[in-house]
Amino acid sequence: MTTNLKLNQAQIIAQTVLRLLENQNLLIPERVAFYVWLRGKRAVLIFDPLALRKPESVVQALFVHRVSTALGGRRVIATNSRGIFLQVAYRTLPIIKLGTRTLDLSQQPSPLHIPVGQSKRGPLWLSIIDMDSILVGGTRRMGKTNLIHTWILALLHGKTARLVLWDGKDNVEFGRYAKRDGVLVVNNLARGIQHLVEEMSQRKVLFQKAKVNSLAAYNAKRKAKLPPLVLIVDEAALIPDELQSALSHLIAVGGAYGIHPIIATQRPDAEATKGTLKANLSTRIALPVPSHHDSQVILGRSGAEKLPKEKGRLLLVWNARLIEVQAYLAPLDEEPERPHPQSLLSERELRLVEAALAENGWFRVREIANQAGESRDWVNGIAKRWEQMGYLTTVQRNPKGHPQGRRLTDSLLETAGLGGSRDLADQAELANLALKQSISI
Ligand SMILES: Nc1ncnc2c1ncn2[C@@H]1O[C@H](COP(=O)(O)OP(=O)(O)OP(=O)(O)O)[C@@H](O)[C@H]1O
Ligand SMILES: [Mg+2]
Repeated sequence: MTTNLKLNQAQIIAQTVLRLLENQNLLIPERVAFYVWLRGKRAVLIFDPLALRKPESVVQALFVHRVSTALGGRRVIATNSRGIFLQVAYRTLPIIKLGTRTLDLSQQPSPLHIPVGQSKRGPLWLSIIDMDSILVGGTRRMGKTNLIHTWILALLHGKTARLVLWDGKDNVEFGRYAKRDGVLVVNNLARGIQHLVEEMSQRKVLFQKAKVNSLAAYNAKRKAKLPPLVLIVDEAALIPDELQSALSHLIAVGGAYGIHPIIATQRPDAEATKGTLKANLSTRIALPVPSHHDSQVILGRSGAEKLPKEKGRLLLVWNARLIEVQAYLAPLDEEPERPHPQSLLSERELRLVEAALAENGWFRVREIANQAGESRDWVNGIAKRWEQMGYLTTVQRNPKGHPQGRRLTDSLLETAGLGGSRDLADQAELANLALKQSISI
């Protein structure tokens, strides 16, 4: 393999450096600021000190950092012996021999550190607090879910963060964690969002009382610390359309309340990850992808298309640098434990579902409130929330346009833990028939 710098790449480097010099107002007009000397794997930029306003700033850390950032994380070295040189490495991605290793939780530096994997410089663990929010992208079967398992295992081992998990695949992946302390595994993402929104409003009240505006400030002030909340969504493309704005909003405002979203996706281009959702995920990780465009979409720069197509090989953008890492293999039991069907609703909410089933699936606020012995206001509030979450339909109307009330959806039955029950399924079927009849009247 030849590693000589190609001329056009040298040109890009030269233009980038020139632009930076110009921005910093370091150029003296009409002078040649530097020459580029191609030396094997690197470009050496030899500056003329007389052609620069402040020649020493070229070798200062800040300028070197700017050049490196502008060039996608290339290694830049400044030398200043007899003249000013700045050397730019040609290869962005060193080829690293990194074998598969299984996660070793005894290496965890703190309860909130999660493993990225093995880098050329050794094990790389980062704090979820510093990572803040994460987007993991990559072609199918390259190891997104495995990586996320290593993070869940580490956070469980740390026993500090609380987790809300949704794999979009009926808990095939995350069901195994359902019985662990501090974990909420949801079948329906709406339930996870609702849980975090409620937690957030409780924290809001606590923050107001403590006169603080962030979790860090609150925990610094109070003895009873609030844990970080980590929301994990394994496949963004499966996020139901109607939940996208609620999720984006949660992610946009949740940071102050200690909510750390981690979202994985095969298709970072898809609607689900576009716009605000992606914009608010600050740490980017890419497993191998087919094209530089995909890499651009995930990382904001190319590179992941050049990764060796090995499972678990990834690029992380960290402090404006690209780091190549081999993820650890998550030590999982062969047979994932399927959770028992259980209700994710409170008893009070369940009574409303029962009342609606007794009404052939109709959720009419006045009747439900009467039957369940609840206030109409409360039931109305629930109805509105459930409608937003897809648990109830919008208010149905008969052909004359008269409102008939909302109806239970399968998603509510599933959340209520009634999805698999035959009798109730039959009942829901009957309720559907009743609906059709009422419309054809
Ligand atoms: N770091 C790793 N080291 C070794 N093997 C791995 C690693 N990561 C994943 N694998 C293996 O690759 C296979 C696919 O991994 P995984 O399910 O995590 O991929 P994925 O990107 O989530 O796939 P999908 O897009 O289908 O959800 C698994 O059988 C897993 O054991
Ligand atoms: Mg997966």
